[in-house]
Amino acid sequence: MNAHSSPSSPLSVAFSAPAPLAGRVRVPGDKSISHRSLMLSALAVGESVVEGLLEGEDVLATAAAMRAMGATITRGDDGRWRIHGVGVGGLLQPQTALDMGNSGTSTRLLMGLIASHPITATFVGDASLSKRPMGRVTDPLGLMGAEFTTSPGGRLPLTMRGICPAVPIEYRLPVASAQVKSAILLAGLNAPGITRVIEPVPTRDHSERMLRGFGANLTVEEAADGTRTISIHGEAELKPQAITVPGDPSSAAFPVVAALLVPGSDVTVENVGLNPTRAGLYEVLRAMGGDIRFTDERVVGGEPVADLVVRHSTLRGIEVPPAIVPSMVDEFPILFVAAAFAEGRTVMRGLEELRVKESDRIAVMAEGLRAIGARVEELEDGLIIDGTGGTPLAGGATVAAHLDHRIAMSFAVAGLVSKDPVIIDDMSPVATSFPGFAAMLASLGAESRPVEA
Ligand code: S3P
Repeated sequence: MNAHSSPSSPLSVAFSAPAPLAGRVRVPGDKSISHRSLMLSALAVGESVVEGLLEGEDVLATAAAMRAMGATITRGDDGRWRIHGVGVGGLLQPQTALDMGNSGTSTRLLMGLIASHPITATFVGDASLSKRPMGRVTDPLGLMGAEFTTSPGGRLPLTMRGICPAVPIEYRLPVASAQVKSAILLAGLNAPGITRVIEPVPTRDHSERMLRGFGANLTVEEAADGTRTISIHGEAELKPQAITVPGDPSSAAFPVVAALLVPGSDVTVENVGLNPTRAGLYEVLRAMGGDIRFTDERVVGGEPVADLVVRHSTLRGIEVPPAIVPSMVDEFPILFVAAAFAEGRTVMRGLEELRVKESDRIAVMAEGLRAIGARVEELEDGLIIDGTGGTPLAGGATVAAHLDHRIAMSFAVAGLVSKDPVIIDDMSPVATSFPGFAAMLASLGAESRPVEA
């Protein structure tokens, strides 16, 4: 256990906003970039230094796994993380099962790394992770020569046997998934020859950016129809790097929507990563009439970053174009909350991937929003929400977070603008991605109180 670990018993909490939200806040480092910075540093020869790493449970699960496979990873008193890598091909056999906790990204990306090493590893996870599909990664990694023994439905717990040399493949992604893309590219790092991933719909490109930064020979070709072909030359040698992780746009989404919804608010969220493959929510909120300005735009660690200045706004419902979904795939729970307070109807479709996240985010959000008085129609691939136009929702219900950090934080924000309390049955999953979430909201003037479960 460390300072950021969650308590083992559920932690029921209700949030409220007695006054407008005001102030400047920072959110923790980007989760996707943090995972990748540890994994690639652990494969470089020499010492890498990472600043701004997200010290949440998911990323700590990645750190523990990389240590178990031979990397030396330490955190200095200055908050900087130092990683001594073992070199591509140098990962060692872990002595115990790799406990991935709640983290799908750790699981899927590490399966890719292990696939091209002569290692046998067992992956275990919590109840949420053990329900999530792994066939999307075991299929392509199987084509590269790795072997898997999975639980029914291709799920965790599973044991895999990597192979060296692995077979480089060309693989067209059947689902828009940066995790699947990254797993194959990471396996390709130690496969002889060129591994290619064809991505019909662009997804977050942190792996591509960072692999290049570490010196891998990786090229990206984009066809006229937007299809991207990413090629990586295997048996790469990675050079250690100094990395600064920008703030996570998926975490910034919560104070941003809170400021839009709580009347009179004026909030600045500093140092937010705005990689175009991640920033879809901000485009959508602006199209809904959200007053969000980007200031001090700069580049941090090879990623575009800005401070977001956000003022309370009356939002209008829109039809969210399905093409934007991959660039905001984690932000729909909080967008649903924003839509519940917009004027008119918001239609969100093309969201079938949300059903296999940390929870079934379509069903869980629909149920919770209805319980607090929102008008929601559930579709197989999305939600249609008729908003209040800014009038508070009734509240007065306990909602279940289903071990899903983003569900818990979304209902915390909904509680700020509901008449009666919205009780979240268990806030502890928030420690996976946003340690300090309640303190951040409190610094803006929100209040929270524990409630008997
Ligand atoms: C992630 C990719 C996304 C996202 C997840 C993190 C990543 O998943 O939902 O939180 O770091 O690559 P998919 O790529 O499976 O959609």
